[in-house]
Amino acid sequence: MIIALGVDHGGFSLKKTVSAAIEADNHEVLDLGTFDETPVDYPDYAKSVAEALLNGQAQRGILICGSGVGACVAANKIVGIRACLCHDTYSAHQGVEHDDMNVLCLGARIIGPALAVELVKSFLAAHFSGSERHKRRLKKVAALEKTPSHD
Ligand code: RB5
Repeated sequence: MIIALGVDHGGFSLKKTVSAAIEADNHEVLDLGTFDETPVDYPDYAKSVAEALLNGQAQRGILICGSGVGACVAANKIVGIRACLCHDTYSAHQGVEHDDMNVLCLGARIIGPALAVELVKSFLAAHFSGSERHKRRLKKVAALEKTPSHD
């Protein structure tokens, strides 16, 4: 898969580690920045990663900010994005299997590199189950995107 990777300055310290973990699992990195620790705005990176997924340039995304929260909130504003902040490996794979999570969010100020690698591996190895009950729930999630508050 091609993995769109976006980080802000708060996530920059984990970027090399995560990028290497993606490549170690034989996936390709689409590096959408940032490229140093100069302060930037995390919504810009959430937008870039989301657009890469929606236009087919990448199949999954990883966003890293300081806590992982801001990037996750921003990414989930975009229709078609199912982003989750996962700092445990169960959620990192179950989020894909049950909820078709397409963006993993991490907080570089919260977790260390070893756990980040485990989380990335769990996320990338997981596949949506395709089971009827999960598809039914995903349809309901998609319907929420069409509520008037999103118009
Ligand atoms: C940047 O200082 C920080 O606010 C950002 O990386 C992220 O943690 C937001 O949720």
